[in-house]
Amino acid sequence: MGLEKIHAPSDESIRRAARFLAQGQLVGIPTETVYGLAANALDPVAVARIYTAKGRPPSNPLIVHLADASQLPLVTGQPLGEAIRSQIEKLTPFWPGPLTLVLPRGAAVPDCVTAGRDTVAVRVPANEIARRLIRECGFPLAAPSANRSTYVSPTTAAHVLDGLGDHVAMILDGGDCDCGIESTIVRLEGDSATLLRPGWITREQLESRLGCAVHLHAVTSDVDPELIAPGMMRDHYAPRTRMRLVGQLGSMELPSRCGRIAFSKLPDAEAKRYFVVDALSESGDLEAVAKNLFAAIRRMDSMGLELIVVDECGTEGIGRAIMDRLNRATG
Ligand code: TXA
Ligand code: MG
Repeated sequence: MGLEKIHAPSDESIRRAARFLAQGQLVGIPTETVYGLAANALDPVAVARIYTAKGRPPSNPLIVHLADASQLPLVTGQPLGEAIRSQIEKLTPFWPGPLTLVLPRGAAVPDCVTAGRDTVAVRVPANEIARRLIRECGFPLAAPSANRSTYVSPTTAAHVLDGLGDHVAMILDGGDCDCGIESTIVRLEGDSATLLRPGWITREQLESRLGCAVHLHAVTSDVDPELIAPGMMRDHYAPRTRMRLVGQLGSMELPSRCGRIAFSKLPDAEAKRYFVVDALSESGDLEAVAKNLFAAIRRMDSMGLELIVVDECGTEGIGRAIMDRLNRATG
């Protein structure tokens, strides 16, 4: 059902998607991280449809996607200060790519995109289909992950159809996403940088490029986390099936219908304890784990299991992003 909404990328289908977007409709788009639910970022009526489709609280702002960094002045406040400009210059070599910058907002960006904030989140996706589409449109695209609010992000066109098929005019099929995990989000203010969401671009990479520490945003009781990074504190990425980290099991007896998401191949004796096992990589390569994780969670969540048990890793490099998502999904 709805399969006719999924289109292979071609000049014709990209032009068609651009026409739908210009009319204020929603289109599912591939990016290198996860699929996005795109609307014309400069059209408040179109953007409002994103919130309705996702069931997303209006307090949770959206990321604006540009075709290239030269479009930044379209959406950021002008003029930007000297210190922040120098930070942007150090980080834009990651563009196009899975890095989102939170910057002072420009007047052209509607309130509903930024949830009324004085900042705007911006990125240039690396996926060529996405960039061809943004160029064809001539306007930037607001696009959250194309899942119902709080569910697992989509990494295939079929995932988008599953959750949001009724709400999109069409979906451009870019195959499986290369990274499989959402972009890293960094807030820049003057000469300070804060990691709001860990992702494919690691904190270590950012620090080496900036030549200074990237702060982790501290969740303290006297600061409302919603005010710093809305959408990051809630029950995100949660499958419907109960999910636990392998280290949380203790001496718990496994139910008969228990799934295991392993980061590498399990020895037979261990695999036998589970109703179903999905190994995300041969030998624990964390980039493969990130790429395959969300699809595995969705697959297991559709199997009527009583419990999903998932592996853990350290928080170095991309491990930080993987554990961030898993801690929230199992929290
Ligand atoms: O990889 C990605 O970033 C994907 C693809 C489609 O680009 N998009 C994505 O969007 O993950 P979404 O809406 O699922 O997550 C965006 C996050 C939310 O947690 C939101 O609260 C935060 O970015 N955000 C957006 N604008 C912000 C701002 N001005 N200040 C702080 N956080 C912001
Ligand atoms: Mg999301």
